[in-house]
Amino acid sequence: MTAAPLQDTRFRLSEEQARELAQAYGTPLYVVDEGHFRQRIQQYYEGFRAASPKGELSFASKANSTVALLKIAYQEGCSIDVASEGELRAALMAGVPASACHLHGNNKQESEIQFAVEQGIGMIVLDNFEEIELFGRMKALVEEKGVKLVIRLAPGVDPVTHAKISTGQADTKFGFNIVDGSGEKALKRTMELGLPTIGFHCHVGSQLLDPEAQISGGELIAKFAADMKANHGFETTYLNVGGGLGVMYTEKDVPMSHAEYCKAIVAAVTKALEGTGLDPKLAQEPGRSLIAESGVTLYRVGVVKTVPAKERGTRTYVCVDGGLSDNPRPALYGSKYTVELVSPSRSADASPVTVSGKHCETDKLFEDIQLPSDVQAGDLIQVLCTGAYNSSMASNYNRYQRPATALIRKDGSFSLVQRRDTWEEMLAREIVPEGLV
Ligand SMILES: Cc1ncc(COP(=O)(O)O)c(C=O)c1O
Repeated sequence: MTAAPLQDTRFRLSEEQARELAQAYGTPLYVVDEGHFRQRIQQYYEGFRAASPKGELSFASKANSTVALLKIAYQEGCSIDVASEGELRAALMAGVPASACHLHGNNKQESEIQFAVEQGIGMIVLDNFEEIELFGRMKALVEEKGVKLVIRLAPGVDPVTHAKISTGQADTKFGFNIVDGSGEKALKRTMELGLPTIGFHCHVGSQLLDPEAQISGGELIAKFAADMKANHGFETTYLNVGGGLGVMYTEKDVPMSHAEYCKAIVAAVTKALEGTGLDPKLAQEPGRSLIAESGVTLYRVGVVKTVPAKERGTRTYVCVDGGLSDNPRPALYGSKYTVELVSPSRSADASPVTVSGKHCETDKLFEDIQLPSDVQAGDLIQVLCTGAYNSSMASNYNRYQRPATALIRKDGSFSLVQRRDTWEEMLAREIVPEGLV
C-alpha cells in the first residue's frame, strides 16, 4: 500500500528558543512541544472516531514515559498502555487512574501482576499459558478489582520494518499464535476457568511506513474473533490492533496519515466481522506516531575533526555533547535522523559530516549530515523527531547523566518536566563492602 505524501509536520525549535533553552537547562536537552503533542493526539482521535465512533486510543508509554507527558496524553482522552510495573507507577504518578491503564509483557513477573491487580488496573493483556493459570489462581481478586483480560495474538504477518521491532510474525516471543492453534487453546482455557476475558489484541511491529501488515493483523484477529464466536459462542467486546504507525525521521520516511490508516484498518476489521453480530470496541495503542515528531534533542558542538577515510578521502566528525546514552536508536537499529544547525550559518556551503557522540564507542551517531562547512565548537544543533524511544531508552553508559526534558508550554513559556541526573543519584546504588582489599 503506498502512502499519500505528507507535509513535514515535525516540531523544530527557532534559534531564539534553542538559545534560551540551552542557557536555562544546558545540553544535551530533550525538548517536547506541548501544543504539538496535544494536536497529534487530537488528529489521531479525529481520524479514528470518523471511522469508528467508539474507537479508543491508548498511549504506549514505552515511547516516552515522562510523567507530565503521560498526564497530557490522559487529559487528551488516551488510556495508558504500560509494559512494566515501572511504567504503571509513572502513570499513577501522573494521576492516571489504574482503571485507565493496561499492562503488557511477554514475561510479566508475578509481583508486577499482583501490584497491577491490587491497584485495580483496567486491563491485562495475557501473553502465555503460565499467566492464564496464575489468573485462574487469582480469580477472586481479579473479579473483586474489576480487571478485564485480553488475549494477545500473534497473527503471523511479517511487517516491513527493522527485525528488532517486528512482533507480529509466527516466530515471536509475544502472545499466542493463531496458526498453530495456541490462540484458540488460550481462549478455551480462560473460558474453562471463568476468567473475565473480553477480547483480543495484536501488535505487529513499529515504524511501519507501509501499514499493510498492521491492516492484515487487524483483519486476522477480527476473523479469529468471528471463529471464536462460531466455535465457542465467545462474544468479543474489545479488539486492540496495537500501534506501529511510522513517522518522518528523514524526508525519505513518508508515513500514511492517521486518518487514512484508521479508515483502512476499521474497514478491514468491519468486513471481517460482517454477519457475525459482533460489534466490539476498537482500540489502538500508538506510541511513536503520537509523540516522536513533537520532540527534538538539542546538542552543543564540541570538537570538529577531519580525518583520512577509506573510499571517501576524508571524513569530518562533528562531536556533540551527547550520543549513545541519550539516543541508542542509531546503534540499535541503524536509525537515521534529520539534524539541523540552529545557530545562524556563517557559510553558504554545506558538506556531509558525521555527527558523533562523546562515548567510548566507534559509533557514527548521525552519518552523512549536510551541515555548513564552518560548523564549529559552541554551535547548537537540533535533531528532529526524538520524542519517542529516546528519553525512555536513555542509559547512563560511560556514567553520563541522562538529559533533562523541557516542555514548551502552549503560551510559549518553558517548564522542566524531567531534570538531568545528579552525580549523587549516579553513585547512590554503589556499595563497597567493608574490608574489600
Ligand atoms: C504491544 C505494543 N503496543 C504498542 C507499541 C507502540 O508501538 P509504536 O510506538 O510503534 O506505535 C509497542 C511497541 O513496541 C508494543 O510492543
